[in-house]
Amino acid sequence: MKLWGGRFTKETNQLVHNFNESLSFDQKFYQQDIRGSIAHVTMLAKQGILSQEDQEAIVKGLEGIRSDIEAGTLQIGQGAEDIHSFVEETLTNRIGEAGKRLHTGRSRNDQVALDMKLYTRDQVKELDGLLMRLLKELLTIMEEHTDTFMPGFTHMQKAQPITLAHHVGAYFEMFYRDKSRLHDIYERMNYCPLGSGALAGTTYPLDRDYTAKLLDFYGPTLNSMDSVADRDYLLELLSAMSIISMHLSRFCEEIIIWNSNEYQFVELDDSYSTGSSIMPQKKNPDIAELIRGKTGRVYGALIALLTTMKGLPLAYNKDMQEDKELTFDAIDTVKGCILLFTGMISSMTFRKDVMERSAKNGFTNATDAADYLVKHGVPFRDAHGIVGRLVLHCLDKGIALDDMTLEEFKAISPVFEADIYEAISMKTCVEKRTTIGAPGEDAVKQVIQIYKKKLEGQKDDK
Ligand code: ARG
Repeated sequence: MKLWGGRFTKETNQLVHNFNESLSFDQKFYQQDIRGSIAHVTMLAKQGILSQEDQEAIVKGLEGIRSDIEAGTLQIGQGAEDIHSFVEETLTNRIGEAGKRLHTGRSRNDQVALDMKLYTRDQVKELDGLLMRLLKELLTIMEEHTDTFMPGFTHMQKAQPITLAHHVGAYFEMFYRDKSRLHDIYERMNYCPLGSGALAGTTYPLDRDYTAKLLDFYGPTLNSMDSVADRDYLLELLSAMSIISMHLSRFCEEIIIWNSNEYQFVELDDSYSTGSSIMPQKKNPDIAELIRGKTGRVYGALIALLTTMKGLPLAYNKDMQEDKELTFDAIDTVKGCILLFTGMISSMTFRKDVMERSAKNGFTNATDAADYLVKHGVPFRDAHGIVGRLVLHCLDKGIALDDMTLEEFKAISPVFEADIYEAISMKTCVEKRTTIGAPGEDAVKQVIQIYKKKLEGQKDDK
């Protein structure tokens, strides 16, 4: 049964129905649809637009539908056009006349705007909870590795020594920004579109503040046309999720490199790795690769919805139905990725010895050798040249700066004294970097305390 059959004389073509229907995917928010309808009729009754008896019958009927769907005794069949039609039709079949009054003072346009908002609002909270767990895991790794030396890179070339805690801290920053972006979106989206009607409000004396409150919104939206035509909050969420995916992807890329035979900085746990059907020796980082790969899918959803929205005149247009599959898929994808990523890094082994050995090779202390000269009065540009010659000398002999004799140092610059060895030791190189935000152990420990405070009082599942 169509909600709009009255003015039609012909049945809908089957292909048209299949193309037009949204029940196959919008059944995902049946709970939100029922919740919104309960709030709507509660308000209608309060305003005297609906009788108390009808309101009670409708609420009972809706609650029954919800529990029957949950229990599996009511199947959401494929006949109806969308979840709104399905719920209304089932309600009327079950409770009769009163069911037909459910849609008083409402349109599917404000209804779907509400349902989608309620659904994504719940999902924002879930994403927030997942990010929270990830941030806690990153913090645990940081606390364990404030003195685990590793090379820091630029251009994928060894640059200066850092610690694993410092490297992981960079990702803490990224995911914390992601979390605060979700918070911003929540704050901006949390206004209730219900009561906007098809586009121009309604002549019924609705109490929109009341429904907004019943549904835990900060208040009602203030323009009925924007209310039914606004999908900005979805675009913001897709964009925030694209950035989350980009961050996950960057970290996965590093883990794949670190886990390679050449690096061996980390070893992925067997439970988070896969094998090859032909090469018995292989242990592949498929999960990291898949997370990296799924980024494209999330970006795709963002670009697809931006494109769908770009030419739409006010107010509602059916094009907007396209928001659902894209957003649902992106949300499910990102949630899965954060969950799997957290499990992967918490079960991963960091090979401190290999990281430290690698940090010692590749002249990561060359800048500190130059700084040593500067502290002894040599202008930085000259110091840079001198250390460049030291590096050339070492490359020639296949040794590190630390392996040079004092005579060799002095032959290139007489400024060098015996304390050069301490000045360029791994420990000094890292520990002397004590300004806030730098990798020195004390600085990082200070930052860890700040991070802990930030996470304090924030629940895993907001
Ligand atoms: N399935 C529709 C959507 O997702 C619901 C709104 C239908 N409104 C309408 N006027 N056809 O956008």
